[in-house]
Amino acid sequence: MEPAAGGVQPAGRRPAVLGLLALLGSSLLLNALFLAHHFLSPSRSLLGNDGGSCGLSWALQAAREAEAVGAVDCSGHGQVFLDGVGGEDGRPGCECNACFAGPDCSIRTPNCTADADSGNPLFLEPYWRRHAVASAVVFSGWHRMSYTTTDGKFQSVELERQIRRLHGAVGNAVAGDKHLVFAAGSLQLINALVYALSPDADASPPARVVATVPYYPVYRIQTQMFDGREYRWSGSTSLWANASRNSTTDGDHGGFVEFVTSPNNPDGQLCKAVLGGSAAAIFDHAYYWPHFTHIPAPSDEDVMMFTMSKPSGHAGSRFGWALIRDENVAKKAYSYLQDNTMGASRDTQLRMLGVVKVMLANLHGEGDIFAFGHDVMRTRWRRLNAAVSRSRRISLQKMAPEYCTYFNRIREPSPAYAWVKCEREEDEDCQEALLKAKIITRTGVGNEASSRYTRISLLKSNDDFDVLMERVTDLVNAEKFDASSSM
Ligand SMILES: Cc1ncc(COP(=O)(O)O)c(C=O)c1O
Repeated sequence: MEPAAGGVQPAGRRPAVLGLLALLGSSLLLNALFLAHHFLSPSRSLLGNDGGSCGLSWALQAAREAEAVGAVDCSGHGQVFLDGVGGEDGRPGCECNACFAGPDCSIRTPNCTADADSGNPLFLEPYWRRHAVASAVVFSGWHRMSYTTTDGKFQSVELERQIRRLHGAVGNAVAGDKHLVFAAGSLQLINALVYALSPDADASPPARVVATVPYYPVYRIQTQMFDGREYRWSGSTSLWANASRNSTTDGDHGGFVEFVTSPNNPDGQLCKAVLGGSAAAIFDHAYYWPHFTHIPAPSDEDVMMFTMSKPSGHAGSRFGWALIRDENVAKKAYSYLQDNTMGASRDTQLRMLGVVKVMLANLHGEGDIFAFGHDVMRTRWRRLNAAVSRSRRISLQKMAPEYCTYFNRIREPSPAYAWVKCEREEDEDCQEALLKAKIITRTGVGNEASSRYTRISLLKSNDDFDVLMERVTDLVNAEKFDASSSM
């Protein structure tokens, strides 16, 4: 009969069992020694017998330089970059955030002006510091030197695949049945898509390019700058919404191309096309990601524009893409980009591949970039709202919590920008009024809105936002002082 597990052994069998145990013990010890030798032997240890090279050859020096630069302490208020200007010792020094100075950025500039102008998405920098290991990219001097990449294309086939996966996993766009066209930022796509959707110059009168107020001003600026024979800037949709527009060639124009920014820059609202019928629409979804808005459903428009600048924060890499249903429109946009720049930089495409993979690998987990981003942005929006709610001088756009399919719950608003209205009669120029309070904003005049409106960017670094909150609090507190002194 077998002894019960853990039961007492009969006395006569003890020596044999002890021998067996000794054999087992020494075998385990030998195995442990073998494993230790295998994994911790000098050739495999991180310190290594190759002078700490970890078996690396050409990548080692670059890796060391990158690590050395990343390790410099700028007091949490600045950064050292590999391509920074060399100091007396020949090494690049700290580049300080606004309102900080000194060799290690530890000196706070007193009573500093808050710069809330640009949409620089540095709120995501802490995320990438946390994911430094996964997002580092190393490449050789001979990496993709050619004009073309796999299959003679200008676009990385693998990056295309990962971007489609990202849209599928986030649920913000239907990408499966669309053509993907890469560009150097979505700024480059603006004119590429207007061109692709306009009729041929010799065949028709020009298309009218329009957008709804308050619109992203670059649509107007670029359309007027490129001044194509195929299209012309024709202002706000409100001028055309009730006009006859269903024919593509009703007399003096070759149809409409409408920009629809959703969520909108500057006011964060989800928008629909205003002109229906045969008007072509370009949906700019730069902010259609769960950090900035709830995602009610995947967007399935004929022409959609995306950028990596806002979802990952890598604005400096200059990478955007369009999802286009119609093959001919996609071909025309692609040929524009081919003639213009021969496509997006291959170095950038490699970096973006790493970035998208990190985003994908962390979705719904602890390192979810959208959860991180939403958390930062909704906290900023909440803090700004709390301060402005005490003001009778300025107000913000109204936003409500909404159900988001990505988070599978109702989420608080977290817009990229605050669209500020100056309420006092004398503050007709809102940008100017805020500048007097030491807050730099972007006037609503550029959006064809009134000068009573101005835009505050909420996307910048934590330091920028802290200074902004100080100045907004000063402004609101001064109102109380004004009221009590006039009593
Ligand atoms: C609505 C909108 N579209 C496009 C862009 C341009 O983005 P990119 O950095 O890809 O050129 C921006 C940048 O702020 C934007 O706000």
